[in-house]
Amino acid sequence: MKEIFSGVYNINQKIATLNSVPGTKPFNEILVTVDDKEYRLWDPNRSKASAAIAKGLKEFPIRDGSVILYLGIAHGFTASYFSDIIGPNGVIYGVEFSDRCFNELLVIAGKRRNIIPILADARKPEDFKDKVIEKVDIVYVDIAQPDATEVAIRNCKEFLKPNGYLMFTIKTQSVDVTQSVKMTVKLEIEKISQAGFDIIDWKMLDPFEEMHGFVLARMK
Ligand SMILES: C[S@@+](CC[C@H](N)C(=O)[O-])C[C@H]1O[C@@H](n2cnc3c(N)ncnc32)[C@H](O)[C@@H]1O
Repeated sequence: MKEIFSGVYNINQKIATLNSVPGTKPFNEILVTVDDKEYRLWDPNRSKASAAIAKGLKEFPIRDGSVILYLGIAHGFTASYFSDIIGPNGVIYGVEFSDRCFNELLVIAGKRRNIIPILADARKPEDFKDKVIEKVDIVYVDIAQPDATEVAIRNCKEFLKPNGYLMFTIKTQSVDVTQSVKMTVKLEIEKISQAGFDIIDWKMLDPFEEMHGFVLARMK
C-alpha cells in the first residue's frame, strides 16, 4: 500500500481512502482491511475525481482539514471519499438542486458530519451565501450543465480563498455537441484561464468517463 496523495492510497493498483465510518459501505463499495485499518476502494468508473487520479492528475489539493464547496454533490458518492480525506476538521458544503438526490444525501450526511447538505441552485450563489459561512479552500464542480464553467467561476469569485483551487468536471455533451470533445474541453479551459486562474493540470477521463474532461486550476 502506498499513499499517493494526502489521504488517498494505492492498494494493489486500486485507489482507496481510509473509511471514516468503519463497517459501513453505503454505496456498496468494496472494503479492504490493511494492518487493521479499513479502506474503501474508490472506483474511477463511478467518480470523476477518482478517474482524474487514475489518469495521472499531478496534484490533488484535498487534504486533512480542507473546506470544500461542492456544486452538484448528488447523493454524495464522490463527496463521501472527500469526507474520508478531510476528516473531522474539514467541511464539505454540498449544493444540490434535485430533491431526490438531496434526500439520499441527507442519509449519508447523517453519518458523515463533515458534510453540510444545501438544497439550492448552484447558479444562484446569493441563495446559499448564508449557509456557506466561510471562504473555502476548494470549489469542486460537477453539475453537467451547459453553463457549468460560468457557474464555477461565479462561485469561485464568491466563496474561494485567494490561491484556492477549482476542481472542475466538463461533460462535453452538455456544452457543445457540434465540435470535437477535446476542443470543447480546451475552450472551457480557456474561459477559466481568462477569468484569472492558473491551469495546473487537466485530463480527459476516458475510458472511465467518456467525453468528460477534468480541470485543476488555482485562482490567482
Ligand atoms: C453528474 S451528477 C454529480 C455526481 C456527483 N458529483 C458524484 O460524483 O457523486 C450532477 C449533479 O448535479 C446536479 N445539478 C445540476 N445542475 C445543478 C444546479 N444548477 N444546482 C445544483 N445542482 C445541480 C444534478 O441534480 C446532479 O445530481
